[in-house]
Amino acid sequence: MSKKLITAVQNSFKTHFKTKPLLVFAPGRINLIGEHTDYNEGFVFPGAINKGIVLAISKSSNDQSQVYALNKEELQTLSLDTPTPIIDGGWQNYILGVVAEIKKLGHHLDNFQAVFGGNIPEGAGLSSSAALENSFAFALNKLFGLGLSKKELILISQKAEHNFAGVQCGIMDQYASMFGVKKSAILLDCRSLESQKFKIDFENYQLMLINTNVKHTLSESAYNDRRSVCERVAKLLKIKALRDASLQDLETIKDQIKEEEYQKACYVIEENTRTRVFSEAIIKNDLTTLGQLLYQSHDGLRTKYKVSCAELDFLVDKAKETPHILGARMMGGGFGGCTLNLILKSEFKKFRKEIARSYKKEFGIDCAVYKVKLSKGTHTI
Ligand code: GLA
Repeated sequence: MSKKLITAVQNSFKTHFKTKPLLVFAPGRINLIGEHTDYNEGFVFPGAINKGIVLAISKSSNDQSQVYALNKEELQTLSLDTPTPIIDGGWQNYILGVVAEIKKLGHHLDNFQAVFGGNIPEGAGLSSSAALENSFAFALNKLFGLGLSKKELILISQKAEHNFAGVQCGIMDQYASMFGVKKSAILLDCRSLESQKFKIDFENYQLMLINTNVKHTLSESAYNDRRSVCERVAKLLKIKALRDASLQDLETIKDQIKEEEYQKACYVIEENTRTRVFSEAIIKNDLTTLGQLLYQSHDGLRTKYKVSCAELDFLVDKAKETPHILGARMMGGGFGGCTLNLILKSEFKKFRKEIARSYKKEFGIDCAVYKVKLSKGTHTI
């Protein structure tokens, strides 16, 4: 968490609203493995990171709700009466969505005034939107004493994303951002919401994120399409979600679905297994297996689930050519954002230089490299 960011948000709040706020931090997340398995009620393996949203908030001193987005330098007045999504509303929709979902549960909200700022690179697939939703859900709960549990709060955040941002996302991002644990990743069962934390220590290796700095359009509709395919296949198999299917089950309906639907369902079933195998390899400290699983995950996302893109594939192919990288894969929804690499610590700098050069040469744009620390979930500061 950045002290500089906290101070900037605090100062801005003071300038705008001249009172003392409640301060909340909600982090972004990475995901070690288990991609597109959450909405199939399967397993995921995320962790909260030390980048996120800082929110300063207080009850309003007048009959208006106002929010200032520090990064965008935009001040907006929000109407809490009947919140509806704003076309091209951007950040406002996440906040309005949270307000709407809290109200749907029968809670009353008075007006509030807030400033938020963040240091999660936008479009990087590090869940800045879940962090924003969680920061407001968490803060409004505290500010107005709503008595909602953290689990209820993440479901509110998820519904805000469904109904106000139009993405039929699973629960992974909101869960990780709320329940993250320092130095740990969380193996989450997305059906029961039960989780197990794993201390992460890759010894001489470390995680490296490489941001493609691209976000291809239509990624949201492509995401929702993938989800529909999975649900259709599950229905044909007469099960609640693909989490309950085996590859053998899938064979029984192969002639009733298109080849591409078969491939997608196949990916989900395999990825779900990979996620559990990954957790076993962590216990055994078997870094080679961890790396192989990352490459296999990427391969499935690229060739079967078809959510990768040329930039992500390039980065993963380059990682494969590098002996000191054990594994790499695209992370998050896909079509851009970051790759996650497991690299020998002593090679980090060298590879960063090499990849910057070759990526620029190939695509004419810069990539960005980040180190992240696994950190605590949403909390008051
Ligand atoms: C996005 C969604 C998550 C999850 C991932 C893919 O981040 O918000 O719910 O489905 O994509 O694993």
